[in-house]
Amino acid sequence: MASTARTFARAAFKSSPSTSAFKTSTRNTAFALPRQTLRQQARRAYSSEAPKSSSSTGIYLGVGALALGAGYYFYSQSSGSSASETKVFTPTFEDYQKVYNEIAERLEEKHDYDDGSYGPVLLRLAWHASGTYDKETGTGGSNGATMRFAPESDHGANAGLVAARDFLEPVKQKFPWITYSDLWILGGVCAVQEMHGPIIPYRPGRTDKDMSACTPDGRLPDASQGNKHLRDIFYRMGFNDQEIVALSGAHALGRCHSNRSGFEGPWTFSPTILTNEFFKLLVNEKWNWKKWNGPKQYEDKTTKTLMMLPTDMALVTDKSFRQWVDKYAKDEELFFKDFAAVILKLFELGVPFAEGTEQSRWTFKPTHHS
Ligand code: HEM
Repeated sequence: MASTARTFARAAFKSSPSTSAFKTSTRNTAFALPRQTLRQQARRAYSSEAPKSSSSTGIYLGVGALALGAGYYFYSQSSGSSASETKVFTPTFEDYQKVYNEIAERLEEKHDYDDGSYGPVLLRLAWHASGTYDKETGTGGSNGATMRFAPESDHGANAGLVAARDFLEPVKQKFPWITYSDLWILGGVCAVQEMHGPIIPYRPGRTDKDMSACTPDGRLPDASQGNKHLRDIFYRMGFNDQEIVALSGAHALGRCHSNRSGFEGPWTFSPTILTNEFFKLLVNEKWNWKKWNGPKQYEDKTTKTLMMLPTDMALVTDKSFRQWVDKYAKDEELFFKDFAAVILKLFELGVPFAEGTEQSRWTFKPTHHS
């Protein structure tokens, strides 16, 4: 995605009055350009293969973190017929910033995807890695990156996420000391920040697990359901109503794909820029059932180009959720503050970080200047 278009889109949305989600000029300038020029080329086929192991670069084992996340990684590499040598590498903040920068650079370069960015699908990968967490059993969560393996990679909810895993694979090859689980979450952090969202503090310390740690199907939300289901799923992870609504604001980004979830279309006119438009549209627009040969979803009355899932609409019809939708629709700053806090919590669910590290999380510098 051209950064000028992205910056412009952000500026256009920032300057539009909060009550008017459908300013024609805003819509045309902010959305039509990247979408019309880039969307057509975009769809990638996907399979559910687990990535090849990085055997050529040796085996990495994180064995605890003394400084923040700076675990020791034993790097053992066979050098021809001679005995294998073992190296110790202790990554620092600067090393992780390099990984962040590499992801950001790839986001900028690989703009011929969807609406012009892999950002939304990267965020979705990080969320689906984390959102399997079950607080009762302590299983699931981003520690493990078990979505590399079937059956988890084949779970219906994860359809299409191979695009995000493949996007990150060359980064793993370039920085083999980082675990997949830390990398996927760093990808989510980078995606939010590079799509002009708030700063998300981060700490490493996740280790990769094998396929025996794959979570059972059914832990992620089913979009065709309502408020009770949302509470069942998110309370299981340890979230409350306010946090459920704040998390759902991520649907300002990206789109549904009929060949993945069955649903189709974007939620907002700026699917690669994080804003509070999702909430504004929920409150200010009229939503009707879409007449089509697909799963039940809503379309906006004004343009019939946007969509809402049944679970999204449950945020408006449920009183306890609704008060937060109203707040976030009126106040983007509040949404950003709460979104950063709840994303941080989501990304850390079930991760056995070294004690004391919550006092010293890292923040990475976004590459844009807005
Ligand atoms: C509240 C329950 C949720 C439900 C039922 C839900 C459901 C869905 C569905 C059906 C899609 C379309 C997938 C596709 O066809 O490609 C989607 C996309 C997406 N979701 Fe959610 N989601 C939920 C919560 C979240 C949360 C908590 C986040 C992140 C914090 C999130 C981030 C995204 C993003 C960024 C996309 C766009 C992906 C893309 O453009 O490829 N969602 N979600």
